[in-house]
Order: sequence, then structure tokens, then C-alpha cells
Amino acid sequence: MTIPKKARAEHEKLAAEILEHDRRYYAEDRPTVSDAAYDELRKRLVALEQEYPALVTPDSPSQRIGSAPAEAFGKVTHGRPMLSLDNAFADEDVAEFLGRIRRFLGLSAETEVDMVAEPKIDGLSASLLYEDGVFVRGATRGDGQVGEDITANLRTIREIPLKLKGKGHPVRIEVRGEVYMRRADFLRMNAEREQRGEPLFANPRNFAAGAVRQLDPRITATRPLRFFAYTWGEASALPEKTQSGMLGAFKDWGFVTSPRWRLCKSLDELLAYYRNLAAERADLPFEIDGVVYKVNRLDFQERLGFVSRQPRWATAHKFPAEEAETTLEDIEIQVGRTGALTPVARLKPVGVGGVMVSNATLHNEDEIARKDIRIGDTVVIRRAGDVIPQVLRVDLNRRPKDAEPYRFPEACPVCGSHATRGEGDAVRRCTGGLSCGAQVVERLRHFVSRDAFDIEGLGEKQITAFHEWGWVKRPGDLFRLEKKHAKGEAALAEQEGWGETSAANLFAAIEARRQIPFERFLFGLGIRHVGQATARLLAANYGSFSAFRAAMAAATDKEGEAWAELNAIEGIGEVVAQAIVDFFAEPHNLDVVDDLVSQVEVQDFVKPKTQGSAIAGKTVVFTGTLETMTRQEAKAGAETRGAKVAGSVSKKTDYVVAGSDAGSKLAKARELGVAILTEQEWAALIAG
Ligand code: IVH
Repeated sequence: MTIPKKARAEHEKLAAEILEHDRRYYAEDRPTVSDAAYDELRKRLVALEQEYPALVTPDSPSQRIGSAPAEAFGKVTHGRPMLSLDNAFADEDVAEFLGRIRRFLGLSAETEVDMVAEPKIDGLSASLLYEDGVFVRGATRGDGQVGEDITANLRTIREIPLKLKGKGHPVRIEVRGEVYMRRADFLRMNAEREQRGEPLFANPRNFAAGAVRQLDPRITATRPLRFFAYTWGEASALPEKTQSGMLGAFKDWGFVTSPRWRLCKSLDELLAYYRNLAAERADLPFEIDGVVYKVNRLDFQERLGFVSRQPRWATAHKFPAEEAETTLEDIEIQVGRTGALTPVARLKPVGVGGVMVSNATLHNEDEIARKDIRIGDTVVIRRAGDVIPQVLRVDLNRRPKDAEPYRFPEACPVCGSHATRGEGDAVRRCTGGLSCGAQVVERLRHFVSRDAFDIEGLGEKQITAFHEWGWVKRPGDLFRLEKKHAKGEAALAEQEGWGETSAANLFAAIEARRQIPFERFLFGLGIRHVGQATARLLAANYGSFSAFRAAMAAATDKEGEAWAELNAIEGIGEVVAQAIVDFFAEPHNLDVVDDLVSQVEVQDFVKPKTQGSAIAGKTVVFTGTLETMTRQEAKAGAETRGAKVAGSVSKKTDYVVAGSDAGSKLAKARELGVAILTEQEWAALIAG
């Protein structure tokens, strides 16, 4: 696309104007326009660049990296500018860097120049001013000359000494280093944010950046930030003559310096260090994006000086980029073993950090909406070590005109059942359960497990095989196995790993469960939130499966009695009630349940026996500290055997069970002549 002359001229004028305002703002601390007027200029510039992407050149103000100090932070002019580093990518670049140093210093090619190699940590640089050993001010890098005053936030970082240890520190020194977050802390904090439905950070660096620029230091304090010291700015004096010596001094003063720095004496040693660290990169507890080489002797550093804001005595040897741009070809929804719908980005394959990537995670529905990710978009993806590649953002400049906002499916792509989201749940889930191909193996495994149908000899391995062979697609199929696979070519006994005996045993174990208690049946269905205890509550309340099922069908009416009755059961809250009603409202589930019921007999709930129990109808009081059971357990044990548990001792009390330190109730029992039992005697009584 050709750019109209007029647009090009306007862009040029805007760019010059903005750069001049930047200079006045940062370098002179003397802005001449209001922030609003300045923002207008930038907005117009960005709009032009969006219309004519070719206008985006590396020197456009839109590409400036240093961020403007936030309104509410004070500004700090660094005692000495905070420099950036030149980059080396190939081994030859490093050789060239060393060659330049030797030539500049007039050293022969054979002369050794000691170098310090350090990891290049991916965080944010900060400058900490110490006066008489006391931390008085901390600042971000800003544009290198002027940064933001983030003293209050930096004070919250434990690895930053508020007072230097030891003696002999300079009267005034700016200690510089990197604020960063460890990978594990990042993952944990992000997981917590996801739980709370808050926006996620793409990487530890962004998380750390957000925390450092928090206006409220109390929030910063809750973020696990750390600090590595690796260089310095203005200093009234220096205690050492080398970079390695300075790292030692920092350590003595109470700083953390990178534990992995090495002194290297040749190009080969530098490159070996680089390769070692590259190999370890994924296993390091923090993210690094390369290695920094620094001339060790400070007098050499002094002589070498700077070229355009970059020291001649240092360079950054970068690892291959871990970010790349590619096209999002499709969004695929995967269904997990428990029904969670997870969006996965299908990408045009692209190399990232030395590995070809064609899939990336999109986390969940809200993330896609938040980042407005659309099929056909050009996306920036990032691969960080062992972490699954992620889609960081969309390049809006390259969005196809016809790209439409992504609509997250409300039906399961595997089985077609409704996919719903509970309140406060970031994840959409398929309600298909046993009828869903993605979940069926997991659900069947649960179905046959000990507390459900308890079918011996049937574990995950066998279930998976039966499913693969197409023998078992839903629970009812288990009860048809014998009929279909006892004899003939497709006989179970003929299959690998099976024989006559094991097949016969399995058929017998299945047969033994054709009669199944209501509560086991219910638990076996694997309804979300319905564990063993809830299944039991439901069974006790409704008595029979047919009554229960009719009630669940009626409970879809939130105004009706059935819904009220379900919610009135003690121990069943609204979330659980909703999950149960949803399950029985899904036709796919009803098919599965009908099929199963055609094969088995669901036994009505049997009230626990009370007759014949030694304590049926008796009144018991528990007192003192019980050793072998909790109070709750003791109460339940008595009640299921038909006894009444009372809170105080009276003439009507039959037994007082006294633990240690029993007080007034025990005294009262003695006074009234009530039978007093130890825990052991009580246990013997209810057992017999
Ligand atoms: S030395 C003049 N050492 O990399 C020396 N920088 O591209 C200036 N960084 O702004 C920095 N680890 O944020 C140095 N061990 C390290 C570093 C490091 C990370 C960052 C720092 C700096 C940027 C330069």
C-alpha cells in the first residue's frame, strides 16, 4: 500500500513534536504541554500508524521503550545515567566485542582480559541510593536519565537492605540491579488470580513490573519480589578495583548477587559459560534472557567508557528469542477427563527459542475475551522454558478486516451436551459426564471404584481397553459384557492379558452388583459436587431412585416445591443443588441413566438399623476430652444406633461417656447415680 504524501508529512511532524516533548519532559524535566495535549498527539500518531503500518519505523515515538513516569510517582534524576547494553547474538559477535576491547586498550591478541560473566535476569532494573549506608531513595530506570521514585515500593522487598551491613561503605552510592519474580512465585500468584477471576500476567517480568509500579505499596508488599545487585551508578568512592570485587562487596553489605557469576579468562571460557547456562535455563528458578559479559578491571572500564549510552566494556549475549509472531489459524476446544473445556490455539508453525511451536494455551474463555483474540489474528506467542507456549497478545495492526470476535461454544464439542459455568468458576464444563467421549473413561473408572459400584478386577487399565475395543461406551454396557463376550471370537478370555478364570471372575464380580444400594448408584454417576456424603444425604431424603428422579425433573422450576425441598436438605447448598438439577436436565445423561437402570436394580435406601442395638432408645451424654473419636463422630455413632445424644445430664440420662478432664457433668452423673463409661467401655457396648 502506498502512503499518501499528506499522511506521511503529518506523521513526520507528529513524530518530531512528540520526541521534542519527550526530551523536555525526561531530559529537562520541563514539559511545555499538558499531559492531555501530549496524549492527543500520541493517539493521532498511533492512529496513523494503524492505518499505514509502513509508517512504523524503529525510531517512531510509538516504539520508544522507556515508559513515562506515572503521574503520581515523583521523578528522580539518576546520579549517573542508567545505561543499556549492546547485544551479541552469535559467537562471532562476542569475539568481535573482545577484539574491540583489546584494540581500544592497545593490548595484544595474546593478552588475557579477565571478564565477569553473569546471567541476564529478565526483570526491571532499579537504582538504590544509599547515604551513610542507609537506603534513602529508589528509582526505576525510566528513560535512563530520569526514573520514577518507587522508594516506598522497594522498601517492601526483603532482599533490599534498608541499612548496609558491615563497615567501610561509601558515603554515597547508587547500587543497581534487577527486581524480579521467581517462576514458582509467578505461577502460584497467577493461579490465585485465576481463582479470583482476575486478569492474568503473561510472564514473571510483567507481574514484577506491575507490582513495582503499584501506587499502593501495601499491594507491592504482598507480591513476592526479589532483587539481584550487579552494578552501581554514582559513588563517592569504591571499595574495590574489579567487578568481581564489587560483587563481593555487595554481598558483604547484605545484597543478593547472582550466585552463578564466573570469572572467565578467554573467549572459549565465556562461550562455555553461555552454553552451560543456556542448557540450565529452563531449570533455573528465575527467567533469564541471556548472559552479560563485563570487563573485570574497573580501570579498564573507566578507559573504555561509552558509546551512545552503551558501555564499551560490557555486552549482553542473548539467548534465542522466546517470543515470536505467527498466525492463529484456529481455536480448538479440548475437553478434559473431568469435562473442563480448554481452548487451545492452533498456530501456523513458528520457531521460538529454537523449538517449532504450533499450539499454545489460551487458558480459558475470559482470557480470550480479555485479549480479544480472534481466528486469523497475528499473535505474539511466548515459550518460557518448560512452560506451555502462551498467546501473549494480538497485533491489532494486522487484524484481517473480516475477523470476528471469538464466541466460546456453549455446547461440548465432543458430545454436544450443554457446557455451563458455575458462579465464580473461570472454567466452562461439559455436563455430559458419562455420555461424553472425552470423560467416559474417567467417569467409568469412578463408576466402578470402591465407594461406588465396587467392581473388583476392573481398574483404569481394563476400562481403557474395553473402551478402546468398543465394548464399553457407558456403564450399562458393563452389565452386557458377559452376554456378548463370554464365548466366541470376541470372548474376553481370548484377549491378551485375560484367561478363562480371570474372565469368569470379572463376570461374577459384575453380576454381584446388579443390585445396588441407591446411594452407591448415585455416587457412581459422578455428578459434579456429589460426593459420597451428599449421595447419602440425597438417598436418605428421597428414599428411592424413582422418587428422586421425578423430584429432580420437577426441580428445574425454581419457584416450585421440588427445588425448595432439595435446597432444604441440610448439607446441600445452592451450587450443589444446581449441579444435580443440571445433570438430570441433560438428555444425554438421562439416556445413560435409563440404559443403566434397564440393567440393574437400584435398591431403596435402608435406614440404619436401630433395633437390636444395645443402645437403641437410650440417652447418652458425652463429656470431657475424648481420645479415640471426635465429638461429632461420637454423636453420629450413637445416633445411627438409635440412641439420643443429650447436652446435659439428668435423671433421664442412661449413660455418661467421660473422657479426660471431665468436670461438672461427670459430678452430676455421680450424684444421680447414672452409669458412667470410659471410651473403651462405650466402644465395647456399641460393638456388642
Ligand atoms: S549491567 C552498564 N548486568 O539488562 C551495565 N544488566 O540491557 C548496565 N540486566 O537495563 C546493566 N541482568 O535491566 C547488567 N547481570 C546484569 C543484568 C542486567 C539483567 C538488564 C538491566 C539492564 C538491561 C540492559
